[in-house]
Amino acid sequence: MRIVLIGPPGAGKGTQARLLAERLSIPAISTGDLFRTHVAQGTLLGREARKYMDAGALVPDEVTTTMTAERLAESDTDSGFLLDGFPRTVRQAELLRETLATQGADLDRVLAFDVPDDDVVRRLTARRVCGECGLVQHTDHVGSGKPSSCGGCGGTLQRRDDDREETVRKRLTVHTEQTVPLLDWYTTQGLLTRVNATGQVEQVTQRALAAVMRGSAD
Ligand code: AP5
Repeated sequence: MRIVLIGPPGAGKGTQARLLAERLSIPAISTGDLFRTHVAQGTLLGREARKYMDAGALVPDEVTTTMTAERLAESDTDSGFLLDGFPRTVRQAELLRETLATQGADLDRVLAFDVPDDDVVRRLTARRVCGECGLVQHTDHVGSGKPSSCGGCGGTLQRRDDDREETVRKRLTVHTEQTVPLLDWYTTQGLLTRVNATGQVEQVTQRALAAVMRGSAD
């Protein structure tokens, strides 16, 4: 099964990608995580991407698509994948369709997560990520408003550089201007299902799984 998750920053794409990938036995691929790995390793791509990420802007389409196509060429994606945060522009979607077409494949479903802007700002300014295992957590869930230890491995929790409120609002604007047009593009192809991404994490997972199953029965 080949699935795309689209949604504003903080919609819960990463949280749900991990859970859905586990339940569907397919790898979750996050372009944000791929970029952060490059940044941490200090690669040329990472240094270039960081300028855009810190500004809350999108990394240019060609760079992002080449990096993603390389990841999709790895053998663990043969039986499917879940893309978290890619594509984000119509151009990226066109390039993804071309890449898949060379393998005689296409997407099965695109899930668009809906969350109000105020919830996004609340979630992201409270988000902490484990520096060791990468587990994403919420300061409400780790006990205080200050970074503490990871509930999974005990590692140190960190705040993402782009989770300052000013940058979050910029990312929301970028999402509205550059990614929302993609929803119409996928709707016309009969691939898009909107998912209410508010409420408990498990409720959202159940809605997303139901959307995937309904879609595969179309
Ligand atoms: P990326 O890392 O993908 O950032 P994003 O899309 O802005 O999404 P986030 O990771 O901020 O949020 P999320 O939706 O994954 O939510 P999460 O599950 O963490 O990309 C970063 C940057 O890389 C981009 O700005 C851009 O520069 C670049 N980039 C990436 N892809 C690109 C592309 N295709 N093209 C160009 N550039 C690209 O949850 C958020 C918080 O909410 C967490 O604390 C979580 O615990 C909490 N939470 C989750 N679910 C719930 C719930 N149901 N209720 C309450 N809290 C919840």
